[in-house]
Amino acid sequence: MTAGDVTADGRARVLVDGNEIPLLGFGVWQVRDGRGCEDAVRWALQAGYRHIDTAQAYGNEESVGRALRDSGVRRDDVFITTKFYPRRKDPVAQAQRSLQRLGVDFVDLYIIHWPAGGPTWAWDGMQRAHERGHARSIGVSNYSVAELDELLAVADTPPAVNQVQFSPFEYRRGLLDACEERQVAVEAYSPLGTGRHLGDRAVGEIADRLGRTPAQVLLRWCLQRNLVVLPKSTHQERIEENAQVFDFTLADEDMAALDALDRTAGSDQARERKWW
Ligand code: A2P
Repeated sequence: MTAGDVTADGRARVLVDGNEIPLLGFGVWQVRDGRGCEDAVRWALQAGYRHIDTAQAYGNEESVGRALRDSGVRRDDVFITTKFYPRRKDPVAQAQRSLQRLGVDFVDLYIIHWPAGGPTWAWDGMQRAHERGHARSIGVSNYSVAELDELLAVADTPPAVNQVQFSPFEYRRGLLDACEERQVAVEAYSPLGTGRHLGDRAVGEIADRLGRTPAQVLLRWCLQRNLVVLPKSTHQERIEENAQVFDFTLADEDMAALDALDRTAGSDQARERKWW
């Protein structure tokens, strides 16, 4: 298996460093620390998710760790991502704090949350976190192609992923193609447009015709576009619904109809407007 290959069960992708990342992950952005977050993560693990995506900035790593321990699922069977909060100075020290909060010996993936202060300054620290075994893979988030190229020019260990906002409505072909060429896997956050895309008529028509839900159609589109996809929900039935995306396929015409919903003109940017 080489970088970019999908595993035989169709559920994971091989990263540039040889590690495997499950294609479906559970995102916990905007899920408050405490009971609600623990329930959501436990439901996700019960529903078969084996990939949880958190961040230092989310403030819910302790709940993610508690849910993982309470779930009965083996640590080694779950892929855990956290993100370096780039307003801090030292990715190694912050990784160690994350590991304490999560109650794990390492995370599977540690990524720079956004290129605050420029795309390269934190990478040395990310590489040290990797060398020390705090993270099995390292990567970035919210990087444009130009920012990725700046980083690749100086990196000893190249970033394995770039996590960006991605959906048919944010179909950043330029960014996706460039990442694929550079062997950087793209992870889609807000694949449902934080819920906004679920009411779209074109998405709804495809879902109705296939006997699926709008969420499943949007998530399936991401999988067929070679993305790792990270839906978020705090409702058990939705968490389960969003995991049922490996038992159907969107036909080429439906993929094309969804592609046409893009509002970024195929941007090579991670986002049209930066919030940082
Ligand atoms: P909730 O957390 O109340 O269940 P995204 O993954 O793009 O960030 O979207 C997350 C938003 O979409 C959340 O507000 C979530 O609501 C909602 N959501 C997630 N899955 C579904 C679903 N299957 N059906 C309807 N709404 C959903």
